[in-house]
Amino acid sequence: NPCATSPEVEKYLQPFQLSPETLQEVSARLRKDLLRGLGKHSHHKAPVKMLPTFVRATPDGTEKGDFLALDLGGTNFRVLHVRVEEEAQKVQICAIPQEMMLGTGEQLFDHIATCLGDFLESHNLKGQTLPLGFTFSFPCEQLEIDKSILIRWTKGFNCSGVEGKDVVQLLKEAIHRRGDYHIGSVAMVNDTVGTMMSCGYKDQSCEIGMIIGTGTNACYMEEIKNVKRIEGKDGRMCINTEWGGFGDDGCLDDILTEFDVEVDKTSINPGVHIFEKMISGMYLGEIVRLVLVKMTKDKLLFKGQISEALGTPGRFETKFISEIEDGLENAKKILTELGLDWDLVDASVVRLVCDTISSRSAYLCAAALATLVNRIRNNRKLGHLKTTVGVDGTVYRKHPTFSSKLQKAVRLLAPQCDITFLVSEDGSGTGAAMVTAVAQRLAHQSRLLEESDGEDNEEEEEEEEEGQ
Ligand code: GLC
Repeated sequence: NPCATSPEVEKYLQPFQLSPETLQEVSARLRKDLLRGLGKHSHHKAPVKMLPTFVRATPDGTEKGDFLALDLGGTNFRVLHVRVEEEAQKVQICAIPQEMMLGTGEQLFDHIATCLGDFLESHNLKGQTLPLGFTFSFPCEQLEIDKSILIRWTKGFNCSGVEGKDVVQLLKEAIHRRGDYHIGSVAMVNDTVGTMMSCGYKDQSCEIGMIIGTGTNACYMEEIKNVKRIEGKDGRMCINTEWGGFGDDGCLDDILTEFDVEVDKTSINPGVHIFEKMISGMYLGEIVRLVLVKMTKDKLLFKGQISEALGTPGRFETKFISEIEDGLENAKKILTELGLDWDLVDASVVRLVCDTISSRSAYLCAAALATLVNRIRNNRKLGHLKTTVGVDGTVYRKHPTFSSKLQKAVRLLAPQCDITFLVSEDGSGTGAAMVTAVAQRLAHQSRLLEESDGEDNEEEEEEEEEGQ
């Protein structure tokens, strides 16, 4: 039997080990792709979409108000009642059955409207018309804060009749079909934006939101003058990078392993979100499983015997990686539960495989984050940037060493940036409410200004059209 660090074992792990130079190269490629995504004529074909969010300001800490929030696209679908100035909030988790994730859009939105209705009922809120923050964690072409077209589903969702449609409209129609309650104005945000905004309430230098959970993505405050498809020159706008799509044009093919290729091929969206598939919780467990299966077939593990569980796609959950890396006893327990005939060397090899694959994930995220902070620093022509990143997601939160590896690697790759990492307390829920709260604060401030100016209020109607 080989020991954990034998050359035979090393052979399987080596393709996952990315040198600092390779990470720098990955970061440089992403830097180019950010520009393509921001460009007026290049954004249509850009793999990293760089979507404008219509969020132009982060909180100043004085926001107030009472909101509803919906959060779809992470581990759970949740309904929340948020009072911005209070820590306390009411949350209800609603399951979304697998069939519904692959059913029709109408079924999905009817279900969401039902969950919201039940929530309002049980918290005696049905008579009120509260503004609603909708965290919808998929790539959307946002036309207004309450008009947002789904570009495509990612992660485990693939409901028919939603791509290309305005998601806010679909939600409103579903609520209208029920007819038993009303909602106020809607603000739609990506979970990265929600995370940035909720962290921004506590720390006003938070200008990046990052998610490493079921999927991975980040947003940051970009200078409007650099967002070529938005009119205007002054100020900043939050850009949802959708960095999960990095590599969709093949630019990361040289670092993909045969296992990454396999995970992509067997996913419900082959060719889409290549970077995400190397990093996020939806896929990490499956990568580990494929490596273990191959090593077992090659008689390096478990006496060459693959158990039924290990042979089943999806059975090796990403949370097992965290548990296995957390301690040898956990590893033994999980291997037993997977019906494997293991010995101590097997257990330590499995731990090494898990460590290698989760480390690669952390380093790739670090490379991507380094690209963003370096960009912000260059944008502002600063020698040194001090900034805060709001973070959320099960992989970042639950894995024992992920966050420290990521932080260490970013420091190496972005030495002139001093980054504080702030784990968001339920960012994707409260953040959406915060977007509404900031918008209300800004509206209130400009009303006060207008009153003192005695200006008329003109209403402008703006239709945005997709050019070539
Ligand atoms: C996927 C989605 C993206 C989201 C991320 C994290 O990459 O496309 O919108 O932010 O998952 O949930």
